[in-house]
Amino acid sequence: MQEENIRKIFKEENLKKTVNLVFDNETIMAIHDLSEKGYIETLEGIISPGKEAFVFIAKDSSGHGRAVKVYKTKTARFKKMEKYIYGDLRFEKVKKGTELIYEWTRKEFKNLTRLSKAGIAVPKPFAFKKNVLVMELIEENNEPCKKIREKPIKDLKNFYNKLVEYMSKMVNEAHLIHADLSEYNILNKNDSPVIIDCGQAVLTSHPNAQELFERDIKNLSEYLTKQGLKKSFDEMYSDIKKKS
Ligand SMILES: Nc1ncnc2c1ncn2[C@@H]1O[C@H](COP(=O)(O)OP(=O)(O)OP(=O)(O)O)[C@@H](O)[C@H]1O
Ligand SMILES: [Mg+2]
Repeated sequence: MQEENIRKIFKEENLKKTVNLVFDNETIMAIHDLSEKGYIETLEGIISPGKEAFVFIAKDSSGHGRAVKVYKTKTARFKKMEKYIYGDLRFEKVKKGTELIYEWTRKEFKNLTRLSKAGIAVPKPFAFKKNVLVMELIEENNEPCKKIREKPIKDLKNFYNKLVEYMSKMVNEAHLIHADLSEYNILNKNDSPVIIDCGQAVLTSHPNAQELFERDIKNLSEYLTKQGLKKSFDEMYSDIKKKS
């Protein structure tokens, strides 16, 4: 019966084969559980077969576009993850191995919830189970949005202002530092930024918060300068502070 249900979730036989090869039974069961609850009706294709996670295009039971991020449990980079979980007051009782991946998934869900509530453009989170996270699919013209490095920004000044507004809200209202902001983790939706990949974001009370905040600003000021908007680190830093 469960086999039959799982078969129905996948639009294509090949996708099902891939998933069966890559994911352990726990992951398949988590997808199944989320589908029973209506969060996932169909998995339609892979947006990104990444190093740490697969991101699928999906639909929920009402036909809404969803992105389903499935963290790999076998090849996870535990060392990197530990750095962002220890020191975050919300995750004191830290676990090892697969449990750490589950914690990481919960962390991304919680971060997206906080960021969304603070009015920052991020994918709205809907549910998570074990290493599987269901969120809003960020789309433009019925296609998943591209990253800014793939779809160049037209109005750099306007884009920059929005980014500064979001980064200021992130620190002052959500009390979070993204900690991996770059042209790889910002989508271009109608020439406006949507910030993704929020698993590593840490509270502003994290011992490395200031350093991570500065690294985010450095990445973005350098990238935007390369694109033609002259913004030094200091300028961007003070623009973010000014907003608060
Ligand atoms: N909610 C979403 N809507 C649309 N596309 C998304 C969404 N979330 C992720 N993506 C796409 O999937 C890609 C990978 O997602 P993400 O950056 O969250 O994972 P990652 O951990 O960086 O994975 P990787 O190991 O591939 O770098 C993104 O670059 C983006 O193209
Ligand atoms: Mg990413």
